[in-house]
Amino acid sequence: MTTVKAWSLLLLQFSLVSMGKAGCPLPELTGNFVLSSDSILKNSFPDNSQALLECAKGYERKDGSSSITCLNGVWSDVELICKKIDCGQPNPSPHMSYNIRDGTLFGAYIQPVCDIGYDLEGTSHRQCLVSGWSGRAECLLTTCLPLDQIEHGKTNAPREEPEFNDVITFSCDEEYILVGNSSITCGEYGEYSSPPPNCKAIECPVPEITFGRQTEGNPPYFYKSEATFECGPGYRMKGLATSVCEKSGWTPLPVCVEVIITPTKPSTTTNKVTTIGTTTASTQLHGRIEEQPTNASPSAFVIVIVTVFVTSAVACCLLILGYRHYKHKGSYNTGEELRTKEELLLNQSV
Ligand SMILES: *[C@@H]1O[C@H](CO)[C@@H](O)[C@H](O)[C@H]1NC(C)=O
Repeated sequence: MTTVKAWSLLLLQFSLVSMGKAGCPLPELTGNFVLSSDSILKNSFPDNSQALLECAKGYERKDGSSSITCLNGVWSDVELICKKIDCGQPNPSPHMSYNIRDGTLFGAYIQPVCDIGYDLEGTSHRQCLVSGWSGRAECLLTTCLPLDQIEHGKTNAPREEPEFNDVITFSCDEEYILVGNSSITCGEYGEYSSPPPNCKAIECPVPEITFGRQTEGNPPYFYKSEATFECGPGYRMKGLATSVCEKSGWTPLPVCVEVIITPTKPSTTTNKVTTIGTTTASTQLHGRIEEQPTNASPSAFVIVIVTVFVTSAVACCLLILGYRHYKHKGSYNTGEELRTKEELLLNQSV
């Protein structure tokens, strides 16, 4: 019996204590706010006490009171309105724009983009944090690698380290010819529009002329070297006999044209001796020059004389031999005389 009484007393006492000390439980919050760290540490929320709320991470107070009050064991309504932090448009930077696809609210990423010819230095993505946009970025003018002087020529750059759109020009020394582009541009990605050119020694090909030959000059034919020509027999030279190797190649090489004449009196042409000097040569004219040597008759005369002399000499020799042979016949009896005598005797007897 006493135990039951005691229990009921205890319960009554407890309920009295509870009623007297009526309070609220830990508030259960749903939304963009949380209990402040100070309030979390409290282990009881008696009536008329307050709890402080704060906006969740990435949110900020927009409106309303940040406190709630415990009244007769029930928390008052939350008035606090929190909104997501908005980092807004990033500060403008020269030659830079931003690619903003997901807005500027907390947690969003934006991409800095540089103008053409500018390089991005820094972070390629910036995020909206509580502290604002993360990272740093700037756009710097693109530069190209400095160029060395080209061999046998000159490199003309507007500055030591060429920048975007700078044009670098090249020239070659006198005896050299430029192979490639005489000017190149520093491009938007720090690359030149084409490789620098080369300066090549001017060299002309071995000259060739038809119906003639070269008499002077030897390869290699570098700038200002010369070659001299002559035409073959029966050909006349048109143009200068000597050509010079220039930047564009040989100065015009001479041309050998066949020397020909017009037969003014066809009947006499064959016999007539014509000299080159008096002939007007042209490829349209007919008949080739007949270069008959004017000393032809004296040599023929000599031949005749020699022939006559040799013939006479041979004739003389034959005569002498013949005479000697006859004499020998007389001295040595060959029986010819005897035969004739016998014949005579035969004739007499008959
Ligand atoms: C010269 O430049 C042009 C245009 O920039 C380019 O297309 C070409 O390939 C270049 N030539 C050489 C030999 O580099």
